[in-house]
Amino acid sequence: MGNINAVVHLEHLEGGQIALIGMDNPPVNALGHALRSGLAAALGQARADRAVKAVILIGTERAFSAGADISEFGKPRQAPGLIDIIDLLDAMEKPVIAALSGQALGGGCELALGCHYRVAAPGARIGLPEVKLGLLPGAGGTQRLPRLAGVERAVHIIVSGDPVAAEQALHDGIIDAVLSGPFRAEAVAFARRVIAAAKPLRRVRDIDEKLAPAKADPKLIDRAAEKLLRRGRGLPAPKACVEAIRAAVSLPFDEGQKREAALFMELLNSPESKAQRHLFFAEREAVKLPDMPGGVKPKRIARAVVIGAGTMGGGIAMSFANFGVPVRIIETDRAALTRGLDRVAENYRIAIARGSLAAPEMERRMALIEGTVDFAAVAEGDVVIEAVFEEMDLKQKLFREIDRLAKPGALLASNTSTLDVTKIAAVTKRPEDVLGMHFFSPANVMRLLEIVRASKTSFEALATAIAIGKQIGKIPAVVGVCDGFVGNRMLARRTTQAEMLLLEGALPWDVDAAVLAFGFPMGPFAMGDLAGLDVGWRIRKARGVKAAISDVLCEAGRFGQKTGSGYYRYEAGSRTPVPDPEVEKIIVETSARLGFKRRTIGAEEITERMTYPMINEGARILEERMAMRASDIDVIWIYGYGWPVGRGGPMFYADQIGLAAIRDRLAHYAQATGEATLKPAALLEKLVAENRGFASLPVQTIAT
Ligand code: CAA
Repeated sequence: MGNINAVVHLEHLEGGQIALIGMDNPPVNALGHALRSGLAAALGQARADRAVKAVILIGTERAFSAGADISEFGKPRQAPGLIDIIDLLDAMEKPVIAALSGQALGGGCELALGCHYRVAAPGARIGLPEVKLGLLPGAGGTQRLPRLAGVERAVHIIVSGDPVAAEQALHDGIIDAVLSGPFRAEAVAFARRVIAAAKPLRRVRDIDEKLAPAKADPKLIDRAAEKLLRRGRGLPAPKACVEAIRAAVSLPFDEGQKREAALFMELLNSPESKAQRHLFFAEREAVKLPDMPGGVKPKRIARAVVIGAGTMGGGIAMSFANFGVPVRIIETDRAALTRGLDRVAENYRIAIARGSLAAPEMERRMALIEGTVDFAAVAEGDVVIEAVFEEMDLKQKLFREIDRLAKPGALLASNTSTLDVTKIAAVTKRPEDVLGMHFFSPANVMRLLEIVRASKTSFEALATAIAIGKQIGKIPAVVGVCDGFVGNRMLARRTTQAEMLLLEGALPWDVDAAVLAFGFPMGPFAMGDLAGLDVGWRIRKARGVKAAISDVLCEAGRFGQKTGSGYYRYEAGSRTPVPDPEVEKIIVETSARLGFKRRTIGAEEITERMTYPMINEGARILEERMAMRASDIDVIWIYGYGWPVGRGGPMFYADQIGLAAIRDRLAHYAQATGEATLKPAALLEKLVAENRGFASLPVQTIAT
């Protein structure tokens, strides 16, 4: 309990010469109203106290401050605002030192930029991640950071949103020192030195030198931002960040800050930021199980075993190695193992060629991946992940073996994307340790991890799988056992509609164009060509189902990019899809053969049919308790399938459109096409009748 209020305390040190203002608002010192008013009061006292010669602002070991309280956005603002606090700092006539440990992000970083000095503990992370919430740093960050770090570095830090480590921040000129040793005592010693030096106060707003290169070369900002803006894929926040930094260069400080505030307000009210803030909390919720008993702890994972050196197995092994976890890959024969390890090495070499990986880092990672054809190596794993063909018999056979060999208490996971994990677990004597860990291709890149909870999976196993996901940089979401789980089950609805649209009158490039315009990185047909059409063809044949157009293309040997033709054709060595009159001919003939009367289908209908049937399936998934919350489904689609971030995921998007409109369109398409899966789900009907959205649904336990 602090002596200013519950989250802020003020201590007088060194005979009253140093006022130390401590912030302690767990978990991460978000700058909510209590913290802001506590800071204002403490700064006021330190300012008025004539004995005080210097002030230290300090947080906890975990965080100086992670910035504005994101849950307060969109609610009425309560004074004092963060800018008011920073104005108080600007008006201080004695030096204020920000002592940064843990995270100093967003508004927390801006608070530090308002101080006269910044010192940091080794490993502290300093950054302005607002762009990731669809915002820009709205408390002077876009005006002050370029004055300390120069425009080029500021563009990089603000537009990427990625934090920098204390050591880099020192190099960039953002902080004045990295202090090793007991942090608080070192910060006090630094303050003593500041008092002794008695230098004139330097306010960041008054610094100008580092703006000079950008003033002399107005194109410098654009050059620095070019690549990052491309990565921003048309979202408004990255562009607004650049505009605000431009104002720092071209306008006096106060004018620049006004421009920053105006741009911030525009972003705050934008649908994209609303969606991105939804995602911030959704991501963190997706791993919270309402029935998880308190005190369940994940097991420690020191070593992983992956069975299968195919594309998935290799990608999963890379995911572990990328985060420093040693991993064994087991294959049945040496040639397959060598091929798999070569593919892993090739992937790293590509990353080096692209400049995203340093060569020594590749060596370090490759050294963590060890292949073997000896199945007994299963015994080494704290977690064993099976990534072989999608065949129940094969997987059950493997799990019997794994059960025999794995160490007691090891987590046993299947990377199945479709099969019943409960049935796989049932062949072992320890079904409580078994669950699904569904990675997405390419597994070393895609961040989603669907954790499939089977009927006997223990809470400890679930907690361990979640912890592993976080340990290797994934975004885990817990789902239930059903065909395709959450992501692929919804994708199947889109695939059916895409195929139907072709039969009814659209062409692959029309459909892909509409899906791209919606914001996906790729349309379903270009995606199919990339993944290989033969995969689905083989699964369909095994299941006795048909997909008219895709089957005809496969029968003609058009498997996609790998054969130079699929829904599109590809020039030799090129991955660019080129519309192909041959495909149009196949589609028109197949339509006619099946008795369709082709019609012109507009982009609006295509977009609706590429999204609403998925939302409908999402409603069924919730009805069946295969997902805990609608927002978990959003996380899955954004991180696993490239749903555009600015649209917040399918269920969030549905709430924005209005469920009644979606229900009506689905009912219309169901009637027009006779497709049963388009009939509005019971949950959708219920929510419409009650005038509610998906967001209003309470969290539920997964049905097992
Ligand atoms: N506001 C509100 N809650 C926050 C928060 C914030 N800024 N930052 C974190 N939290 C909450 C999380 O929701 C989570 O809550 P639950 O435990 O209830 O789920 C809890 O704090 C812990 O967070 P994490 O699980 O994410 O913990 P971590 O250790 O993995 O990561 C972190 C810590 C790096 C600080 C991460 O939480 C993070 O990136 N936070 C957001 C930082 C950010 O974007 N700041 C900018 C805010 S906008 C701003 O400041 C605008 C401005 O210009 C004024």
